[in-house]
Amino acid sequence: MTVQRMARFAGAGAFVALIALVLAAMPAAADPVKDRQALMKEVVAKNVKLVAAMVKGQIPFNAGTAAMAMNKVASVPDRFVKLFPEGTDFMDHDKSAAKPEIWENMKDFLKRAQGLKAGALAAAKAAREGEAAFKNAFAELVKNCKGCHEKYKEQKN
Ligand code: HEC
Repeated sequence: MTVQRMARFAGAGAFVALIALVLAAMPAAADPVKDRQALMKEVVAKNVKLVAAMVKGQIPFNAGTAAMAMNKVASVPDRFVKLFPEGTDFMDHDKSAAKPEIWENMKDFLKRAQGLKAGALAAAKAAREGEAAFKNAFAELVKNCKGCHEKYKEQKN
């Protein structure tokens, strides 16, 4: 094998490796249903549960931890709403609990997502003002969950 041919061969190998990498990365990016469920479960619900334990007095109130948890929740809605391409509703995908009403009322859905963000930011701010302020802000925040789920999320069980 000449040096040139070897170089070309190595180049082709690198290209194939690159394609393989791209293909391996694709399924994660191509499954908006899993991604949006993970955001709700791993980020929103997880952090809400953490601060709910504080509100209920099961763990001590910590302003810094509460604010951080609420900021994490606030980071979700902008990403979440980008994960609803047409055809990924409950009727077509039994793996999703997203109702077709989302696509019929996208403006309202987006507004509710922004409500979640605003509520989480307000709770993060209230955490710095103390436990009483935080409790009130938290009670307001969780109204967003119920409101949106009642209209747009199928109750699976
Ligand atoms: C803007 C609407 C909206 C708001 C606000 C909202 N959710 Fe959701 N949530 C959804 C939708 C839609 C789904 C269903 C996603 C799917 O299955 O495709 C969902 C799913 C979930 C799930 C199930 C995830 C899984 O593993 O399938 C949990 C848990 C959850 N939400 C918790 C919360 C909590 C807690 C709040 C409030 C702090 C909240 N959500 C606020 C729309 C919302």
